[in-house]
Amino acid sequence: MSTTDTTVWAIRTEALRRTFRDKSQVKKKKGAKNGDGANGANAGNGAAEKAKPQDFVALDGVSLEVGEGELFGLLGPNGAGKTTLIKILATLMYPTSGRAWVCGYDVQERPGQVKKLINMVSGGEHSGYGSLTVRETLWMFSQFYGLDSREALRRIDELMEIIGFKDQANTKISKLSTGMRQKMNFIRGFVSDPRVLFLDEPTLGLDVGVSRTIRAFVRDWVKARPDRTVLLTTHYMAEADEMCDRVAIIDSGRVLACDSPANLKRSLGRDSAIELELAGGQVSEGGLTAIRGVRRASVTTEPASGKSEATLIIEEDGAVQPLLGYVADCGAQVLAFRKKEVTLEDVFLSIVGRKLDENGNANGNH
Ligand SMILES: Nc1ncnc2c1ncn2[C@@H]1O[C@H](COP(=O)(O)OP(=O)(O)OP(=O)(O)O)[C@@H](O)[C@H]1O
Ligand SMILES: [Mg+2]
Repeated sequence: MSTTDTTVWAIRTEALRRTFRDKSQVKKKKGAKNGDGANGANAGNGAAEKAKPQDFVALDGVSLEVGEGELFGLLGPNGAGKTTLIKILATLMYPTSGRAWVCGYDVQERPGQVKKLINMVSGGEHSGYGSLTVRETLWMFSQFYGLDSREALRRIDELMEIIGFKDQANTKISKLSTGMRQKMNFIRGFVSDPRVLFLDEPTLGLDVGVSRTIRAFVRDWVKARPDRTVLLTTHYMAEADEMCDRVAIIDSGRVLACDSPANLKRSLGRDSAIELELAGGQVSEGGLTAIRGVRRASVTTEPASGKSEATLIIEEDGAVQPLLGYVADCGAQVLAFRKKEVTLEDVFLSIVGRKLDENGNANGNH
């Protein structure tokens, strides 16, 4: 969707900040104060006492607006602050400062109103009681939301059918595999038919087929009614690209870019992306970015085989010749050279300076 002056915001945050106390430092200080064995008397004036607990900044002034009807993605590496942001919006955590609204309600002042309109699913969560079946568990959750019992069972059966989970309807929770449990949790998110649904890594650890079904289902669900909104987090680039109307790239608690996947890719302008497969040699990110025309570089090496993969964002084709010269000087053999269509992965590398791998780790030079 394109946002306009008349857009109704389903989610809005203003300079949202959340810090956490660094527990390791707090402990050190406590230990020093109380006396710590034979050295306790001296420790009070020692280095541990001076070490002031540093607050760890998980969210660093996040201002976002998500329109009603949007499927909006938060894309970022492990520790970027995605779950923290979702927890604040879902009224599970307070911000340290700043404000947030869901469907116009302030999450701190009107948490009860917000709760009525939302639902949240986290990949890998462990909800439910082992001795209940899948269908019983989902029904139980529906009753927490005050749904009519028969209507709830109708919805549950329909959702299980769509997600391909019908055969497990009468399986006890304790017998579910991790992936099956995730499917059940996913269905739980939709049973209450929320206005705003938060999906925290919905396809984490699921196989390709199930992930595809889930992505398609979420898209269809949000587009079926104009007042449904989804905020999802992911570190899968392709997922964000394929599903989301708009994406916010978030790193170290800050939003670095926010736009549609197409516009984000266009923002690279005339830059292009190159992938190199290399054998042997010592190609470094620093060495690559020192080449004129190379803007960003990320190198991952497989220690066992000595093979490396380099992804580069180049500003001009003139960089290719010196690039190949540098690789040869490093003693590396070029196994494959690809100039490719720009993807969200390249946008991430270009903006954040690091490449995001499939586990959510960001590697590369700043
Ligand atoms: N309860 C907490 N106490 C202390 N630090 C926390 C707490 N919750 C989160 N953090 C820290 O805040 C930062 C952001 O965490 P968060 O879980 O929001 O990241 P994320 O983007 O969801 O990462 P992931 O992709 O791994 O799920 C991390 O460095 C994390 O260690
Ligand atoms: Mg998370």
